[in-house]
Amino acid sequence: MIIVDVGCGTGDFTRYLARLNPGKCRVIGVDSRAASIKAAEVETKKAGLSKRIVFKVGDVNKLPLENDYADLTCCRTLLMHLPNPLIAVKEMTRVTRPGGSVAAVEPGGMRTFHDPKDQKFTELALAVEKAYRAGIKNLEGKDFAIGEKLPGVFQEAGLLGIRAEVQADSWVNSDPRRRLRDVREEIKFGWQMFKENEKTERRYLLAGGLSPERVRSFVRQQERRVKEYLSSDDKLRNDTSTYGASIFITIGNKRAGED
Ligand SMILES: C[S@@+](CC[C@H](N)C(=O)[O-])C[C@H]1O[C@@H](n2cnc3c(N)ncnc32)[C@H](O)[C@@H]1O
Repeated sequence: MIIVDVGCGTGDFTRYLARLNPGKCRVIGVDSRAASIKAAEVETKKAGLSKRIVFKVGDVNKLPLENDYADLTCCRTLLMHLPNPLIAVKEMTRVTRPGGSVAAVEPGGMRTFHDPKDQKFTELALAVEKAYRAGIKNLEGKDFAIGEKLPGVFQEAGLLGIRAEVQADSWVNSDPRRRLRDVREEIKFGWQMFKENEKTERRYLLAGGLSPERVRSFVRQQERRVKEYLSSDDKLRNDTSTYGASIFITIGNKRAGED
């Protein structure tokens, strides 16, 4: 089996695909960022998978692969970053053999949050989420909730037998299955990422229609919440604020020769 993983980044998903398909399977990871491909090669060597995975630098809109090459061409969290995902899906279809499959794993629109102890912040956080996605769409043409639109895009690309599945996930800080240390690290990491990209994040929120006052209020309250979480294990363990998100897996087949 030949699998192509497009927008493979440092190759996490590529290696996962290779492990899922032991035996006579060959996986080709393609990404437009040369530094990611270098890192992917290093990690894949460490994982002992170099014999079954090769990486190439390339653009999904013009893949460095011949027609009808792969049995399965897939991507994970790539199409959400492209202003024109249809071109990419058409190109993924081109390199797939007749009867082969094209698959995408991309975020859907369901994203939720609820803090039972703070209804006002809950409403603000939901508005922030909505504005964030609208802002990215307005400024960069990217759709961070592309999941449920992909069956339509696959159809437009000429794929057949299109099907979709949803995976939903939730996070609750009080969940005893998660180690407190991990929960704390996740919160710290999320906040660090926000601070590093704060200027851009604020720009997205404003472009998505949130007023400057509400943006300021959200950042202030979020900072206070992070500080509280990180200073009290007890608070963290008893926090039942709930986050939820969805991922869509969309699959279609390239028309077989005799169809
Ligand atoms: C969020 S990362 C996902 C990485 C990987 N698929 C995973 O799930 O771990 C998105 C990746 O898409 C790559 N990318 C963005 N635009 C691309 C394009 N036009 N062609 C190929 N790769 C692209 C980026 O370099 C980045 O590595």
